[in-house]
Amino acid sequence: MSRLTARLKISAPSFIWRMSRDPLGFLTGLHRQHGTFFFVHSGQRKLYLTIEPELVREVLVSEGLKFSKSRGLEMTKRLLGNGLLTAGRELHLRQRRLVQPAFAKNRMAGYARVVVDTTREHLRRWRHGQFLDLSNEMMAITLDIITRTMFGDSIGDRTPLVAQAMHDCLESFNVGMIPLMPLMQHLPLESNRRFRRGRRQLDTILYDLIRQRRDTGDQGDFLSMLLMATDNGVAMSDEQLRDECMTIFLAGHETTANALSWTLALLAQHPFWMERLLLEIRTHGCEDYAALEICRWVTQEAMRLYPPAWVIARMAREPVQIGGESLEPGAVVIMSSAIAQRQAVYFPEPDSFRPERWEDAEHLPKFAYFPFGGGNRVCIGEHFARMEAVLVLAAVVAAWDYRMLDAMPAGHAGITLKPRGGLPVQLARRPVP
Ligand code: HEM
Repeated sequence: MSRLTARLKISAPSFIWRMSRDPLGFLTGLHRQHGTFFFVHSGQRKLYLTIEPELVREVLVSEGLKFSKSRGLEMTKRLLGNGLLTAGRELHLRQRRLVQPAFAKNRMAGYARVVVDTTREHLRRWRHGQFLDLSNEMMAITLDIITRTMFGDSIGDRTPLVAQAMHDCLESFNVGMIPLMPLMQHLPLESNRRFRRGRRQLDTILYDLIRQRRDTGDQGDFLSMLLMATDNGVAMSDEQLRDECMTIFLAGHETTANALSWTLALLAQHPFWMERLLLEIRTHGCEDYAALEICRWVTQEAMRLYPPAWVIARMAREPVQIGGESLEPGAVVIMSSAIAQRQAVYFPEPDSFRPERWEDAEHLPKFAYFPFGGGNRVCIGEHFARMEAVLVLAAVVAAWDYRMLDAMPAGHAGITLKPRGGLPVQLARRPVP
């Protein structure tokens, strides 16, 4: 029997308008009104929305192969080509096998060193009393980290160039979230020009690095692993390498930066947790990921309330049953972790920041919490990102105190969920205890 809680019809213009104004607010309102698994018919669109852990598991895992990524990603392909995030099923299977070793456990200690060193370098430039936007700073730190973990020293002094080019590309992406915007990519707009310029610059740097590095052997970075990877003796072409590098670049910094910004904002509102965190850091230092348990709870709880990749969508490629409901090919399932992870049945006081809930989270059903997705398309950088978020957080709060200049920011749900208006603060050097 179908577990559908409601069937709605929404006119296409109304749906598009509300999705482009405030997608998370709109979808949250629909769930509140119509339950945890409902159907929306809107123009040509046939959409199912669910936040039930069991159904999310069906879509991502048990029936996962009957779905593909939805068309929303087409815009992303303009930048990423056919990297892991955007690849279709067959290519994805092969590429995932090739890329996976770069994220193996035994590489993490080397990456952790880069995370700590890069963060400290950035923090040394901060000044007592300085006003700055922590969310921009987190973006700069994580972009620098991903650039160095990917290319090691070979990036040389090109990091600022990469940052500028990435910025140009991302700006126009956020425009690309708006439905119908794919049509606008062909217009002679300034944002399109900036996007093309940014992509050209990134391409030049990436191809250059790939060619230079073909014969240098393992340098301990991502690129070494990607260059060494083979499938039945066949290595990746320059173009495929470019796509994978670009994908890791894009997927691997804005999300972590947002997770960090939200964590820092929440900690400023919860001095008790800041104190516990500082105590932990004083006891264990700020480099030992395994020892920093409170840091882990705090980042995990921030990603519950504000998951950076706040929505996952899948399109049925063939007839498939979800929650006893028959989906036609072309139907899209939308699963928002930002909404799912605030269900009181799984998370008592769901809107409160309570890191202690992670002390004993064994009872949680799988997919009550899914900030990194799941199934065969689960985030390949999950362990890297968790380690990075904890080590950056520990380094920042160990050295710096900060006073938020505005109230707790609202979320801006574009491709990622970020603090609207950034996170303006005034810094104060943390006294040595
Ligand atoms: C807090 C940080 C991060 C969050 C919340 C996050 C979240 C996600 C989610 C939800 C997906 C699945 C999307 C879907 O199923 O449609 C994903 C995929 C992916 N992520 Fe992450 N991510 C983070 C950090 C990273 C990092 C650091 C990297 C790389 C260094 C990375 C690389 C990727 C890649 C390559 C994919 C595509 C995987 C595939 O389809 O096989 N992510 N991420």
